[in-house]
Amino acid sequence: MSHLIAPSILAADFANLQSESEMLEKSNADWFHIDVMDGVFVPNISFGMPIIKAIKKFSNKPFDVHLMIVEPQKYINDFKAVGADILTVHYEVCNHLHRTLQEIKAAGMKAGVALNPHTNVNVLENIIQDIDLVCIMSVNPGFGGQSFIESTYEKVSTLKEMIVKKNAKTLIEIDGGVTSENARKLIDCGADVLVAGSFVFKSDNPIETIENLKTV
Ligand code: DX5
Ligand code: ZN
Repeated sequence: MSHLIAPSILAADFANLQSESEMLEKSNADWFHIDVMDGVFVPNISFGMPIIKAIKKFSNKPFDVHLMIVEPQKYINDFKAVGADILTVHYEVCNHLHRTLQEIKAAGMKAGVALNPHTNVNVLENIIQDIDLVCIMSVNPGFGGQSFIESTYEKVSTLKEMIVKKNAKTLIEIDGGVTSENARKLIDCGADVLVAGSFVFKSDNPIETIENLKTV
């Protein structure tokens, strides 16, 4: 499978979400990456269900919803109702991760688990076959536009080995500070999905930037 690109709308112009969504829709982007922040798990608040519902009208591409919130298990059906196709929860806030993943799948979505930069990928060893997507945070979650943490490459390689060894189908997604400088190396280490916020939306020609990340 060739790698996927998931632009993060956190870096979009919020006053023009319709045109930003239409731009992504006609681009070569594979998914919309949607960052929900609660001001508790992370020191920032972004947006919630009404915004997701509003932009869903302008897209047929999968919505990859990254929950940076505490108690994500409370809102699984609400995110399904507004159009989430993949729902990712943070390992660090789930005491009953296996149950939460089963509930996400029972609601009809793919289930993802995100890991903060300090969280070892080995914590997923006994559950990897139940996870559709692991989102490796390559910055501390909470803000777009931060610098990529270099130790991410090693985490990706270790996780890839685990997935192959366990014969799992799990995709590896990288989130934070992705650019055309680090994209190729991340893919070579085993990444399947690259999230890019600022690098896409702050560029002069986002459609061309997405295309460049696709063909890197
Ligand atoms: C960070 C978010 C990321 C962010 C990526 O908490 O999860 O998805 O939007 O933005 P860039 O690509 O600008 O680092
Ligand atoms: Zn994200």
